[in-house]
Amino acid sequence: MKYFIVTYGCQMNVHESEKLAAICERMGYSLAEKREDAELIIFNTCAIREGAEDRVFGNVGALKKLKKKKPNIIIAVCGCMTQKETTANHIMRTFPFVDIVIGTFNLPNFEYYVNAVKKGRQLEILQEGDIDETVPYKRTSGENAWVNIMQGCNNFCTYCIVPYVRGREKSRSEENILKEIREVVAEGKYKKITLLGQNVNSYGKDLVPAVSFAQLLRDICAIPGDFKLWFMTSHPKDLTDDVIDVIASEEKILKDIHLPAQSGNNRILNLMNRRYTREKYLGIIKKIREKIPNCRITSDFIVGFPTETEEEFQDTMSLVDEVKYDSIFAFMYSPREGTVASRMDGQVPQEIKQRRVNELLALEKKIQKQEGKK
Ligand code: 5AD
Ligand code: SF4
Repeated sequence: MKYFIVTYGCQMNVHESEKLAAICERMGYSLAEKREDAELIIFNTCAIREGAEDRVFGNVGALKKLKKKKPNIIIAVCGCMTQKETTANHIMRTFPFVDIVIGTFNLPNFEYYVNAVKKGRQLEILQEGDIDETVPYKRTSGENAWVNIMQGCNNFCTYCIVPYVRGREKSRSEENILKEIREVVAEGKYKKITLLGQNVNSYGKDLVPAVSFAQLLRDICAIPGDFKLWFMTSHPKDLTDDVIDVIASEEKILKDIHLPAQSGNNRILNLMNRRYTREKYLGIIKKIREKIPNCRITSDFIVGFPTETEEEFQDTMSLVDEVKYDSIFAFMYSPREGTVASRMDGQVPQEIKQRRVNELLALEKKIQKQEGKK
C-alpha cells in the first residue's frame, strides 16, 4: 500500500505534509514515486490566492479517470482551502470521487478519517484546535529541518485569508520547541533549522509566563551543535530591536531577514491594516543595515490592492529601489471571499495588475544586476 502527497503553498504546508507523511507511514503505507502508483492520494491545499485554488481544482479533477480505473484508491483533500466550508462543500459536490475533505485543524486525526472511509465519504471541518504534539514529523527537506513554533495569525491584514483558515495565534511551549530542536541536532544530519510561524515576532505573547521571540532565539542558539538557524515570517510592526540585536550577535542565526512590506504607500498600507508606515519600515531597514552589515533582506509585495492608483504603485517601486532587496516576491492582489478588502470598492482591473507586477519584477531584475545580488 502506497501514499502520495501533493503539497501547495507555503513552508507551513510543506511541513504539515511531513506530519501527514508520518501518519501515512504509521498506518503502514509507504511513499509512492508518482500519484498513479498510490492507493492513498492527499492534496494539501493553499487558499492564499485564486491561482493556487484553481490549480487544486484542476489537479483533483484530473484524478477522475484514475479513480475509475482503480476504484479502491482513497483521495483526500485537506488544508487551508478546505477549511472554508463553501469550498469544502463545493469540492464534495463537484468531485464525487473524492473520499475525504477536511480542514487544517483536522489534520492530526487524519488516520481516523482514512479508517472511517469504509463507512462512506468524510467531510469534517473543525473550527479550532491545539497544536498537535503527539505525531512526529517525517522530515523530507534534506539538510533543512522545519520547526513549527506557532500557528494562526491575529493581524487581520485586510487582504489575507490566513486568520480565517488558521485561527488565532497559538504558540507552542518553549520547552517543546527546545526538546524538538535538541532531537533534530542530535540526529546530526540537519545543517539548518528553520522556525515557522505566520508572524514569528509575536511568538510567546500568549504563553504564561510570556516568552519573547528574542529569548527563544537565544535559548535555541545555546543548544550545542553545528547548525544554522533561520525563521520566517517577520512582521515589520513587531520586529523589535532586541530581535535585530540577537540576529546580529548570535553566530548561528543566518543573516537573512524576510520582511514583507506589501506596499510602499501609506494610504494603501493603512487600508491593508498593516499598522506601520513607509517611514517606520525604512527605519527598521536602516537599523538592520547598521547592526547587521551584509544582511540579506527579502520582501513580499502586493500590487493592485483595491483603489491603488498609479502614483501609489510608484511609491512601491521607489521603496524597492531604495531598499535594494536581495530578492522579492510580487503578487497581483487576489480577492479572497470573507476578507475585508474583497468587499472594498475600486477593485483594480486585471490588465493593470499584470502590468504593475511586470514593472515591479523588471525593476527587481535591474537592481539585482546592478548590485550583483542573487
Ligand atoms: N492577494 C495577493 N497576494 C496575497 N498575499 C497574501 N494574501 C494575498 C492576496 N489576497 C501575499 C502577501 C503575503 C504572501 C505570503 O502572499 O504578499 O506576504
Ligand atoms: Fe496574513 Fe497579515 Fe497574518 Fe501575514 S500577518 S498571515 S499577511 S494576516
